[in-house]
Amino acid sequence: MISSRVIDRIKNNIGVVRGIKDVLFDIKTFRTKFYPLYSFSKLTPQRLKNFALGYIAKSFGIVAQNMRPRTLFVETVKGCNFNCIMCRAGRLPKEYMGFDSFKRIVDMFQDSFILYPYSDRGEPFLNREIYKMLNYASLKNFYIIVSSNFSVIDAERVLGTGVDEIVASIDSVNPDRFGKIRENGNFNIVARNLRKLIKLRRERGYKKPIVPLRMVVMKENFDEVEDVIKFGIEVGVDRFYIDTVYASDWGLPEFANSDNPKFSRDDIGKLKTLIQKYKNRGLKIRFVPNVSFEKGDSFSGYCHVPFLSLFIDVHGNAFPCCIQVKPDSIFGNVFEDLEGVMRKRYEFLKSFRKKRPDLCEGCPLYFKP
Ligand SMILES: C[S@@+](CC[C@H](N)C(=O)[O-])C[C@H]1O[C@@H](n2cnc3c(N)ncnc32)[C@H](O)[C@@H]1O
Ligand code: SF4
Ligand code: SF4
Repeated sequence: MISSRVIDRIKNNIGVVRGIKDVLFDIKTFRTKFYPLYSFSKLTPQRLKNFALGYIAKSFGIVAQNMRPRTLFVETVKGCNFNCIMCRAGRLPKEYMGFDSFKRIVDMFQDSFILYPYSDRGEPFLNREIYKMLNYASLKNFYIIVSSNFSVIDAERVLGTGVDEIVASIDSVNPDRFGKIRENGNFNIVARNLRKLIKLRRERGYKKPIVPLRMVVMKENFDEVEDVIKFGIEVGVDRFYIDTVYASDWGLPEFANSDNPKFSRDDIGKLKTLIQKYKNRGLKIRFVPNVSFEKGDSFSGYCHVPFLSLFIDVHGNAFPCCIQVKPDSIFGNVFEDLEGVMRKRYEFLKSFRKKRPDLCEGCPLYFKP
């Protein structure tokens, strides 16, 4: 007798069955994907092609050789003025990308559609040229999503850039706790800057940038999710991104090896129920649990990140994702050999589902049933 686990594994690994499940899941969670309708006017024929090819690749594992990434992450700053306990970018020596390098990358990837001009290990608004960069990318018609700790952001200037989304990272509304999680951060300054941005946007009658609030849920703030949501409603944010904490042995071993990121099914169930209560009231919330056993509103099946995205660091080195930036996961340097980078990416994607890449060892996102 073949056990049901084996049958499940077979089903999950047959491309078409897996792909259809994936597509159905996307339809079900479509409301949480949140791209505004106007963003589709930014799709040129080439972008549409990459969008479609990326979608087919991530759903069915069929990879086209000439496919460019739909989404680009560009590390404009490495390092941070905060030193959040789940990130610790504050420990890194600060490095900045110059405007000319940024411009070259944006020009190289004109056929990508979504641009994240920051990485998972830096505060983009520490770069003095960030407003100029956002402006340039906006003129090139990218859908731009930038995330910030809101400590040094200039609300007036950011409104003038044409950026589409600016995400405010707030993990607690208790000033003491905020300072303990977002070390070196001051809740009152962050809240003041956020209120100012939303007020100015309202006064000017602008539709963008959309302002989401992003909360990373961990042991320290598990009991505060509702308070953070209520704060966001009061301030007038447009939507919420609620993630559970992610930790890798490679990036942050002391955190990964603690009990902190290990959420039980029961914990995740409680979060889902609470979030659903607010979704039922019409709030836009995307829930991304960084655990292997629950999809939330995120994705189903194999990790979609490398199929849709490319991450380029502050020096132009390219990687499949920014979650585990290891030196050996490098595709090459886009300034030195763009075609080589694309070739290595293609090879990486072709074998991604056949065998878990070394890079993804220990990552809970590699496969979600
Ligand atoms: C790394 S930050 C970079 C941009 C900016 N410094 C900020 O804080 O928004 C991007 C987002 O990742 C979140 N983040 C940081 N460490 C994380 C972790 N271990 N797991 C999940 N999200 C994390 C942050 O809270 C933030 O919302
Ligand atoms: S989460 Fe953002 S603000 Fe906090 S240390 Fe990391 S890069 Fe800095
Ligand atoms: S499985 Fe994890 S490490 Fe691998 S590409 Fe996806 S997010 Fe990155």
